[in-house]
Amino acid sequence: MTEKQTWSQRFESALHPAIARFNASISFDIELIEYDITGSQAHAKMLAHTGIISRAEGEALFNGLEQVRQEYRQGQFQPGVDAEDVHFAVEKRLTEIVGDVGKKLHTARSRNDQVGTDTRLYLRDQIQQIRQQLRDWQTVLVDIAEKNVETLIPGYTHLQRAQPVSLAHHLLAYFQMAQRDWERLEDVYSRVNISPLGCGALAGTTFPIDRHYTANLLHFDNVYANSLDGVSDRDFAIEFLCAASIIMVHLSRLSEEIILWASEEFRFITLKDSCATGSSIMPQKKNPDVPELVRGKTGRVFGHLQAMLVIMKGLPLAYNKDLQEDKECIFDSVNTVKACLEAMTILLQEGLEFRHQRLATAVTEDFANATDVADYLAARGVPFREAYNIVGKVVKTSIAAGKLLKDLQLEEWQQIHPAFAADIYEAITPRQVVAARNSYGGTGFEQVRQALVNARTQIGVK
Ligand code: ARG
Repeated sequence: MTEKQTWSQRFESALHPAIARFNASISFDIELIEYDITGSQAHAKMLAHTGIISRAEGEALFNGLEQVRQEYRQGQFQPGVDAEDVHFAVEKRLTEIVGDVGKKLHTARSRNDQVGTDTRLYLRDQIQQIRQQLRDWQTVLVDIAEKNVETLIPGYTHLQRAQPVSLAHHLLAYFQMAQRDWERLEDVYSRVNISPLGCGALAGTTFPIDRHYTANLLHFDNVYANSLDGVSDRDFAIEFLCAASIIMVHLSRLSEEIILWASEEFRFITLKDSCATGSSIMPQKKNPDVPELVRGKTGRVFGHLQAMLVIMKGLPLAYNKDLQEDKECIFDSVNTVKACLEAMTILLQEGLEFRHQRLATAVTEDFANATDVADYLAARGVPFREAYNIVGKVVKTSIAAGKLLKDLQLEEWQQIHPAFAADIYEAITPRQVVAARNSYGGTGFEQVRQALVNARTQIGVK
């Protein structure tokens, strides 16, 4: 037999133990306990402030809740499945500590507005932590970029060598993604930070509560204007999961590149021992487990976003127990994003090394400078499309002759078109190819140096 439930007076018999377990959320919503206590303390203060309970009662509730917090922190209070959920667990322990006055805490409140409040308080903190982690990731990207403005790396389209780029430019692309993630979370935060407390079960309350008073105490920016909406809205969770999913997209794309770069086919980076693992059977192997795990964990965050959307789509107003399912989606996504950001930041900071020799060779061994030959002719009056066709033929003959463009003799160039002169050789060196792309936002070294200055300003580091 399970212990009697808080709501059991209306019931003839006790809950089936398996159903009690099925119904209970304490195993995961215990994560919210400190937020539940903080929310309840604000509610108790408001009850006293508005005269719904006496000042002494308000203080007893507040202090009793503080004791529950301390007991929890010291490991003395560990609620089990009988508590059903964290809200009942805290209220029950409070009542054991302060006696009958504890039973007044739930005046003018429902678990529906309570759980919404707790979840928002939790998510608010987590969003700020994730934003700080994004900043850490950005800082590492800028640090590496700064040292590699003039390091060249093949740039790809269709995973075919296209044009060489500055390695710094490549890394700063991820900086920009992280910047949008950071801004997106700021925006999500503004809708997380609205108080549903005081919406009651669904319709408000008969007591003269002061919702703005609790909202102020809890540092919410505003209160929900409609009680039905306040207790049943989970848009803020969907938005967070969406922002979390986009962060994972970015981390996963970088992971994929790191995995490719570490392969024997690319050999652009070496993984250091602190961030790579071996195989149990193939002694020569060094595996990129960290980026692989980040790429793999992306799936679960996308899954939680999908789950949350499906949970919501058919729900009639207002609260439905389906909403209890939001917590595991949120908690697991928060934990996954934080773990992945931490691992990726460490990996970049100390887990990999670019192989400069190999990169320098990689940017000279192909036809990634062909566009520059076309640009060379176009700059000398040949219409671009015509120049493009000429260079297409040059590439074709060079491939047939087993030569790169840089190996053609000046006479060969001039046979192709009289506009070619001795300066063609300088124009097609990888360095010049990169330097010349000085259009705003391009990979030209001047642009990249300015982008680095801007990046430092954006993250507020000198
Ligand atoms: N554990 C519940 C949840 O997470 C709390 C709210 C319960 N409300 C109710 N009317 N049964 O959603």
